Amino acid sequence: MNYQNVFITGATRGLGRALVIDLCSKGHRVFATGRDKILLQQLITESGCSGKVCDLTQAEDVLDIFHQAKQALGQIDVLINNAGMNSRKCELSETNLAEFELQYAINLRAPYLLCREAMQHMLPKKHGYIINIVSTVAKRSNASMSIYTAMKQGFAGLNNVLMKEAQPHGIKVTAIYPGGINTAFRDQPRPQYMQPESVATMISQLLTNPNDLVVHELTFRPLVELE
Ligand SMILES: NC(=O)c1ccc[n+]([C@@H]2O[C@H](COP(=O)([O-])OP(=O)(O)OC[C@H]3O[C@@H](n4cnc5c(N)ncnc54)[C@H](OP(=O)(O)O)[C@@H]3O)[C@@H](O)[C@H]2O)c1
Repeated sequence: MNYQNVFITGATRGLGRALVIDLCSKGHRVFATGRDKILLQQLITESGCSGKVCDLTQAEDVLDIFHQAKQALGQIDVLINNAGMNSRKCELSETNLAEFELQYAINLRAPYLLCREAMQHMLPKKHGYIINIVSTVAKRSNASMSIYTAMKQGFAGLNNVLMKEAQPHGIKVTAIYPGGINTAFRDQPRPQYMQPESVATMISQLLTNPNDLVVHELTFRPLVELE
């Protein structure tokens, strides 16, 4: 297997948790992070991954967790920037600076720092894969999700430039644009949305693709969504 060692953020619930279970079951070595210590420990026990808690809103902690992942795995072949959140749905006129700064820190600054650290780690080896979990909001510009949309569009732009810088060095970069997933991302369950396990299967398949191709972006949705 070309991409054995995986570092993934946002692994304690939802898509990240499903990805860790899927990847571990396929023989990958995974270092997982999230804030919730109990959920992370349960995941470690269930999947056999390793991991440490980290609040990605603290820039210095983001750098530290990358270092810890490197120490645990030896070499990081794959970075999956999965952690993300939307504070609430409301019109831009009702938003406040605190939620802007929180979403900036988790949805844009943390993946930027991790992409930068991963590139510095992968460039000398001319090997690696960075998978960025964006969202279809980056394509749709959803009303009532202004800050989240802005951060995810910023993340998509960062991803696209990174792809151009990484690929000549043999490092693959893929932006994932999922539609609605039935996770704790929202207060209410949405059974009509994609199950996190289904989305995880779709994403983990990327690691089995032949070396001579790269998927630049992957957009997929539940059947109840048309765009
Ligand atoms: N659900 C959807 O419909 C949907 C659609 C498109 C894209 N996405 C994207 O998919 C990714 C995964 O979302 P999900 O649906 O799986 O959401 P989720 O169930 O709410 O899980 C989010 C994960 O991010 C972690 N996280 C949140 N804030 C954090 C922080 N400050 N520091 C460290 N970790 C933090 C959470 O862990 P802790 O709580 O333990 O910190 C959790 O493991 C996100 O980037 C989201 O934007 C979701």
